[in-house]
Amino acid sequence: MGKLDGKVAVVTGAASGIGEATARLFHAEGAAVVLSDIQDERGREIAAELGERAIYKRADVTREDDIAALVDVAVAEFGVLDIMYNNAGAQGVSGPIAETPSEGFDQTIALLLRSVFLGMKHAARVMLPRRAGSIVSTASVAGLRTGHAPHIYSACKAAVIHLTHSVAMELGEQGIRVNCVCPGFIATGIFGNAFGLPPEVARALAPLMAPMQVNAQPLRHAGQPVDIAQAVLWLASDDARFVNGHALVVDGGLIAGRSWTEYQHLRESLTRGIQAALGQS
Ligand SMILES: NC(=O)c1ccc[n+]([C@@H]2O[C@H](COP(=O)([O-])OP(=O)(O)OC[C@H]3O[C@@H](n4cnc5c(N)ncnc54)[C@H](O)[C@@H]3O)[C@@H](O)[C@H]2O)c1
Repeated sequence: MGKLDGKVAVVTGAASGIGEATARLFHAEGAAVVLSDIQDERGREIAAELGERAIYKRADVTREDDIAALVDVAVAEFGVLDIMYNNAGAQGVSGPIAETPSEGFDQTIALLLRSVFLGMKHAARVMLPRRAGSIVSTASVAGLRTGHAPHIYSACKAAVIHLTHSVAMELGEQGIRVNCVCPGFIATGIFGNAFGLPPEVARALAPLMAPMQVNAQPLRHAGQPVDIAQAVLWLASDDARFVNGHALVVDGGLIAGRSWTEYQHLRESLTRGIQAALGQS
């Protein structure tokens, strides 16, 4: 028995990284899955590989018509929509604030925040009449702590967390749960994409980046897409039936506090400072 037997899910950004891993896991757990992305060839390939209960539908998440049509396709093909996973994204505009172009700001907001609003809006449209459903969005630890990602990305992810809280208050009363996941560093194509590499090259580089990510957090192994997929599966499934308005951090301890190694260095330098001061007095 799968955790999502008989459920119907939409996953955006399903052609790569966290979205791909989640679409695969949802499917393996028994869900019918509508995979969506703007990388059509790769999206179709994954859907074909999954076979029965999986289809691909292109949707640019910055376009409301695309999101509306995506939700409608899920209902038309599989009868209902139980799970909406708003996940698609990229790093967006970066650099010092004084040099950040306003158009880049607008585009990043459209990709990382407006998209989540649109996903929630259109999922709610079809979930409300049934008074059931689970909406999950991908936020980030960058939405909780600064210094992990560019300014506008971080601001968007903080807004996704707050939007999740706010919408959960409304839809929770109607039987629809609204949560988000906050990944730490996960080995995906997002970093290569930020360098302007073609998506297939960025995807191929992701596993090679893992060794560079092992020391980012107390757990000394790189976060993998499946680590986030497992958390999203739980939030989406009935196992989390009493979880609403939650931002689930999955980061190997990255933002829990100052690293133990750094604290030891600090302690040693304090000790040396005290000894030096005592020696002088
Ligand atoms: N990888 C990390 O370390 C990390 C950490 C925290 C949060 N996240 C978030 O996880 C989510 C998934 O990122 P990932 O790391 O799997 O990266 P990824 O690059 O592997 O996947 C992102 C997917 O989104 C798609 N996409 C981009 N723009 C789109 C658009 N306009 N419409 C539809 N699809 C679009 C891409 O084609 C790609 O398939 C993003 O929201 C990202 O911000 C990632």
